[in-house]
Amino acid sequence: MEQIAYVNGEYVPLSEAKVSVLDRGFLFADGIYEVAAVLDGKLIDNESHLARLERSVGEIKLRLPESLARIQEIQKELVKRNNVENGLVYLEVTRGADTGRDFAFPKNDVKPTLIMFTSVKDIVNAASAKSGINVITVPDIRWSRRDIKSVALLAQVLAKQAAAEAGAGEAWMIEDGKVTEGGSSSCFILTQDDVIVTRQNGSEILPGCTRKAVVKLAEERQLRVEERAFSVDEALAAKEAFITSASLFVQAVVSIDGKKVADGKPGPMTNRLREIYVDFARATAV
Ligand SMILES: Cc1ncc(COP(=O)(O)O)c(C=O)c1O
Repeated sequence: MEQIAYVNGEYVPLSEAKVSVLDRGFLFADGIYEVAAVLDGKLIDNESHLARLERSVGEIKLRLPESLARIQEIQKELVKRNNVENGLVYLEVTRGADTGRDFAFPKNDVKPTLIMFTSVKDIVNAASAKSGINVITVPDIRWSRRDIKSVALLAQVLAKQAAAEAGAGEAWMIEDGKVTEGGSSSCFILTQDDVIVTRQNGSEILPGCTRKAVVKLAEERQLRVEERAFSVDEALAAKEAFITSASLFVQAVVSIDGKKVADGKPGPMTNRLREIYVDFARATAV
């Protein structure tokens, strides 16, 4: 059966889900998105995702066409209509379709566009969770407000295409000799003296919801966490490296630019944090 998508108040078959060519998301990437995971038919860490959505739209002076509570209702309705047991809900809000292509915001009361669709993905049992993934490094060529979850993702498209061509699962983006983040993930290492290191939040990176949960869960278990930038050399000298995101939870990085991280296998801390995160996700799903 065909997937159902949500477009501006209507539930429609995915193939019929359309927006105007004048939509500012299409013309200017003038929009914000979010991706939340679904586990056993329930939304994971969605409060964090909705809070970040609210912050992102505020930063670009865009108003949401629906309340956060209503947005969550629509997410749940789509999960139900599409029978998603395990997967993702994508949502995007743009500044809507004006009458032409003016860079400045529409003067009239143009309604923002809100769309959502789902996909199926067995995140818990993904093969790469067992094997870990290889990453490559690329220069971080993005704009300076990466804390906003903007739909302007061309730099990440190019980074992840380069990774795909190199047979890698993710690209780590590098700026001033330090790792900023992955194309669509937050980056972590475990140092030789067992400190979990991840870059501090700021305008250089997206504040990952999974990153936030993992840091909190680690600290609650008295694991040492340091929020600071690290280099690729430091990652290669580390005991473990891993990435986090809504679409893969916690996943080991086993090589960087063809060089093994430790013995080239997922390490015990990564596996432990993954289990802890999945338990948290199940316990707090809505
Ligand atoms: C650039 C970037 N960093 C980090 C993340 C991870 O964020 P989250 O854990 O909220 O999925 C993403 C997710 O898409 C991302 O695009």
